[in-house]
Amino acid sequence: MKKDIYVRNLEKRDLPAIVSMEERQTGVARPDYWEKRIEISEAIRPHWASLVAELDNRVVGFVLGRAGEFEFGLPGTVAWIEIIGVDPAFRRQGIAQGLVKQFAESAEDHGIKTIFTLVDSSHNEMQHFFSRLGFVHGKMLHYQKELAG
Ligand SMILES: CC(C)(COP(=O)(O)OP(=O)(O)OC[C@H]1O[C@@H](n2cnc3c(N)ncnc32)[C@H](O)[C@@H]1OP(=O)(O)O)[C@@H](O)C(=O)NCCC(=O)NCCS
Repeated sequence: MKKDIYVRNLEKRDLPAIVSMEERQTGVARPDYWEKRIEISEAIRPHWASLVAELDNRVVGFVLGRAGEFEFGLPGTVAWIEIIGVDPAFRRQGIAQGLVKQFAESAEDHGIKTIFTLVDSSHNEMQHFFSRLGFVHGKMLHYQKELAG
């Protein structure tokens, strides 16, 4: 049986848990980067857009998002999921799904009608995950330019 997860706003005290989660996923620890991200999140982003999930009082997943107003020529406000991650030891228990559910409900409460995210085309697990949650390919096109330097 799946255990109940508790989703709350991300706070400064979550820094070590997030750094450790990423380190176990990628092998790289980035405490300075995450400290700045959390500071920015607390200063300028809506609090509902950055969340952590707890299981038995332990942080086991997080989502970092934001709200974008009139960006990229789009009317109104859209919510963006920028980073989502779940502790490798706690995957496939509905934790990321719970985080996105809470994120979507809060976005809706703020009058937002669309959530955007970007997924690497080679990252199959992320594609499956977002498809399963009802995300579909949008109409925006991703452009990029490689720089010589
Ligand atoms: C993708 C990720 C967030 C999913 O977290 P999770 O808590 O395990 O996901 P959930 O248990 O909520 O899964 C919900 C559904 O998504 C799908 N899904 C989840 N992980 C999947 C995977 N690895 N492969 C295929 N489908 C997957 C399943 O359909 C799943 O439902 P089911 O278990 O009932 O079949 C997690 O694997 C992760 O953190 N991966 C690395 C993320 C990363 O690289 N982030 C940085 C870029 S944003």
